[in-house]
Amino acid sequence: MTNMELRITVIGTGYLGATHAACMAELGFEVLGVDVDPAKINSLAAGILPFHEPGLPELLRKHLATGRLRFTTDYAEAAAFGDVHFIGVGTPQRAGQHSADLTYVDAAVTSLAQHLDRDALIVGKSTVPVGTARRLRGMIDDVRAQHGRTGGRIALAWNPEFLREGRAVEDTLTPDRLVVGTGTAATASPDDQVADEALWAREILRRVYATPLATGTPLIETDFETAELVKVAANAFLATKISFINAFSEMTELVGGDIRILADALGHDARIGRQFLNAGVGFGGGCLPKDIRGLQARANEVGAASAMRFLTEIDDINLRRRDRVVHLATHMVEELKGARIAVLGVAFKPESDDVRDSPALDVAARLYNAGADVSVYDPQGNANAARRFPRLHYVDSLAEATAGADLTILATEWSEFKALRPSDLSPRVRKHQLIDARNVLDPTEWAEAGWRFEALGRKA
Ligand code: UGA
Repeated sequence: MTNMELRITVIGTGYLGATHAACMAELGFEVLGVDVDPAKINSLAAGILPFHEPGLPELLRKHLATGRLRFTTDYAEAAAFGDVHFIGVGTPQRAGQHSADLTYVDAAVTSLAQHLDRDALIVGKSTVPVGTARRLRGMIDDVRAQHGRTGGRIALAWNPEFLREGRAVEDTLTPDRLVVGTGTAATASPDDQVADEALWAREILRRVYATPLATGTPLIETDFETAELVKVAANAFLATKISFINAFSEMTELVGGDIRILADALGHDARIGRQFLNAGVGFGGGCLPKDIRGLQARANEVGAASAMRFLTEIDDINLRRRDRVVHLATHMVEELKGARIAVLGVAFKPESDDVRDSPALDVAARLYNAGADVSVYDPQGNANAARRFPRLHYVDSLAEATAGADLTILATEWSEFKALRPSDLSPRVRKHQLIDARNVLDPTEWAEAGWRFEALGRKA
């Protein structure tokens, strides 16, 4: 069998799975996307991506047309079709708790395993608490035994995904590294069956990635635990960088100084680097916040609570940035009740329509709850935000949002907002007051145009 003859399924077709499926088709594989949600599957099969991700709709439609990409809700079909099954379902934060909810991962693996009666490699891509892969490996055998599935050879690998929303296609096709975890990192192990399975899994994944994707890309082959931990360690590090610079914002707000210049100066040290040192209203989204909370929760379970306690501080610093914006806004309008506030951006970051744990939406909702009349405009995020918090005025343009505003808050740095000049807003607003919660505008320009301009990390 040539490498390209390996048939691939991708289970879970959210932004991770849909991107992975379309990118594997782009690399030349025959791919079957699987999801339990018929609405999602019908939409994808019709070439309509149910979320915003630049470049992905084009890839989806291209490979629906080439016939290399198909979609189904049927696990029996998936089990019969695939040589390699990627699991890309969500692992959200458990309601009211900090730990990750593994219901969807367990369900996906169980549903697949009960139909597996032929050789198959299952590859986890979802972000999971350390220890999950080893538990799932046992579960797969149990489920197959319960259903009398004795045919074929099964292996499990963990291959975490590091893509960013808004750059998902590019990150998938040209990753910084590939990490593959198996039951053992050693080639010989006291348990030969585990070692054999690991070798076989690695060999198949090398063949899957023996495409332009892996050319020159570091491939790290290790055990399950390291692979699971690399993923959460990467997100914890990124969150730490952001909260680190935001902690210094708290300092400069009190003693004076300019956080952007501080970050630039720090970033010139190649050991530190300038990326992820943009101070502002903090991080959000479906990954960084829940991953640092999940990691702390898992550390507590395994007896490493002290080692990971700093993550609680990272989370607290992050959430205090939202308090800071609410505090500044309250101070600037004097009386929140009845004040007209324009919030520019509700997505957790630009080039995304995702509002999960969005700092911008949280600030908008809190101002509304305190009595303000809040108008919101986001180039992509309005619909998702309206589902989560319907009571704000969602409008279709920057002009509508800022009409008659007593205060404007730039909360997500879409390029449309980064290009704002005082003359764009001055004739429209009631009061010339602006909070730049992402530190992307030039304070001098706005102050010279007669605006009361506040940013984060610079003394008010
Ligand atoms: C993040 C990681 O960057 C990916 O590598 C990872 O694969 C992904 O989580 C995941 O686990 O699936 P993502 O959540 O798409 O990706 O977004 P980021 O670009 O990391 O931004 C996260 C948040 O940090 C955003 O709210 C952004 O506005 C904020 N941020 C980022 C800052 O406040 N300052 C910065 O300097 C950078």
